[in-house]
Amino acid sequence: MSMIEKCRLIEFPQHGDERGQLVIVEGNKDIPFDIKRVFYIYGSDKDVVRGRHANYNSEFVLINVSGTSKVKVDDGTSQRVFELDRPHIGIYLPKLVWKDMYDFSPDSVLLCLSSEHYDDKEYIRSYEEYLRVVKVDGTQKD
Ligand code: TYD
Repeated sequence: MSMIEKCRLIEFPQHGDERGQLVIVEGNKDIPFDIKRVFYIYGSDKDVVRGRHANYNSEFVLINVSGTSKVKVDDGTSQRVFELDRPHIGIYLPKLVWKDMYDFSPDSVLLCLSSEHYDDKEYIRSYEEYLRVVKVDGTQKD
């Protein structure tokens, strides 16, 4: 399976009643890893592109808990765009996939769950370096 094929939308269980919705996201259950880190992004303008990196070790699930955004994934061979437009939908991103987040709505709050603690050394921030890494270790052909 290619890295792009591993990127997928996940629908989380909702427990809605007359009081409103409650969305449940459990590590190792609704998402395929233990959650070690949570961060969120808001206040990004529509023309901003965030991310622009790949990670050697971290896997992520991104959820627009408010508003909308788009995520473009790239494995050095192909690309795919996912829309995050509902608070009970997330995108799973495996390690070593290049990702851009963009087209943020003014009310966008993008919740990011990660399998790893933050370590700047496991981020690949140069696309040229990324291409070298995926072509050398052949991960995209897994
Ligand atoms: P950056 O990686 O540019 O954010 P994004 O990929 O979401 O566009 O991170 C912005 C700054 O925050 C940068 O100085 C690194 C720091 N940072 C942490 O210290 N811990 C974290 O978990 C994250 C995601 C970023």
